[in-house]
Amino acid sequence: MSSRSFAIKSYGCQMNVYDAERMAELLRASGFTEAAPGTAADIELLNTCHIREKATEKLYSDIGRIRAAAQAQGRRPTVVVAGCVAQAEGPEIRARAPAVDVVVGPQAYHRLPDLIARAGQGGAIDTDMPAVAKFGHLPPRARRARPSAFLTIQEGCDKFCAFCVVPYTRGAEASRPAADILAEARSLVAAGARELTLLGQNVNAWAEPSDPAHDFSALLAEVAAVPGLARLRYTTSHPRDVTAGMIAAHARLPALMPFLHLPVQSGSDRVLAAMNRRHDRRFYLDLVARFRAARPDLALSSDFITGFPGETEEDFAETLALVEEVGFAQAYSFRYSPRPGTPAADRADQVPPAVAAERLARLQALLASQQLAFNRTHVGTETEILVERPGKGPGQWIGKSPWLQSVVVEAPGLAPGALVPVAITAAGPNSLAGRLLGDAP
Ligand code: SAH
Ligand code: SF4
Ligand code: F3S
Repeated sequence: MSSRSFAIKSYGCQMNVYDAERMAELLRASGFTEAAPGTAADIELLNTCHIREKATEKLYSDIGRIRAAAQAQGRRPTVVVAGCVAQAEGPEIRARAPAVDVVVGPQAYHRLPDLIARAGQGGAIDTDMPAVAKFGHLPPRARRARPSAFLTIQEGCDKFCAFCVVPYTRGAEASRPAADILAEARSLVAAGARELTLLGQNVNAWAEPSDPAHDFSALLAEVAAVPGLARLRYTTSHPRDVTAGMIAAHARLPALMPFLHLPVQSGSDRVLAAMNRRHDRRFYLDLVARFRAARPDLALSSDFITGFPGETEEDFAETLALVEEVGFAQAYSFRYSPRPGTPAADRADQVPPAVAAERLARLQALLASQQLAFNRTHVGTETEILVERPGKGPGQWIGKSPWLQSVVVEAPGLAPGALVPVAITAAGPNSLAGRLLGDAP
């Protein structure tokens, strides 16, 4: 008998991408095989995101699509809902979508094989939240890794921003022990990774569970020292958890790439207070100045929300002014989405969606112009790229610059994982073009 096949679709943030990889490894180790992309699978797993309403609604439309396709082919796949919607909505998912057999939260997926086995007996739900316990129950990392790999070091959030569901879907802040993280880093490098991105909802809140003095900046130095590792990144950091040691790490560690994602959400002190961000505009701008003093070529990225309840045109103007003042290389921006169970959703002063959307359009135009301007400053310079995947054209490869820009080069002899010098020849809004310097390695 051939083994049962599975397919995983992941939505949301990089932590979900990481979880999807670990779930795939677990299912393979349990005797399942991955279905070829686009083919029917016996187990359809949806790794979901709850952050905005659109992300959650996507789950239900995908379940409908899977069910319709299976019915047309006379199949009955096992449908598994994992991730943050599973955690937030639990049993409601099966009430709304009876085709779902298993609901499993982000802290319980190490029990997937057992839950799938129980799916036939009326379904299974597991949204337990034993903080980081799952890591001890997962199989070792796969023997092959991508050139740029993710490594979750911290989960959960204690910040309770007034708009955000993450503290409810991922639970309280919890850190993995450094020894586990370093072992996983070494195995990813042995499997071919050249770059690691350390992940956490508040990655810089990381601390050794038994020793709070062993903090994130110490961990950065330890991971940077893993033999064979060329590049180190981390995301997402919270302004409140930035330390002097972390800023100094950007001056001290050559492997630490000159790119920092530091969400600010708004430039208005009034809105930041209402958001419960626990930092103001000045605090954020001071951090930016200190990071840039430590690493002058540091590029910044951020997250923004427009139309938070009570946001006025003057508040929004302060967000635009902050963007002008900092100059971002890249950023994510969103229209505020009221989320069930969060304090901001209950406020009476909701901003009309059309107003929030119009502000978002203005903000995105400004951010896009900054991104293009940043990319253009690189034309005529030489830099190193980490080759990740083939491009669309013949002989084309796409790699990443130290500043996380995609760089397209025409060099048929390259391979994923190569770190090669290039001259940047052209810049667009979303990518650069480069010419390989010297011969392909
Ligand atoms: N832990 C990270 C990011 C979490 S979610 C941090 O604190 O920065 C990623 C981004 O989604 C947030 O930074 C925020 O900009 C956005 N976001 C979160 N909740 C949202 C909501 N209700 N509506 C719109 N955007 C939201
Ligand atoms: Fe959400 Fe705020 Fe926590 Fe980030 S810091 S995950 S935005 S509550
Ligand atoms: Fe979404 Fe959960 Fe990540 S809500 S953004 S998948 S932590």
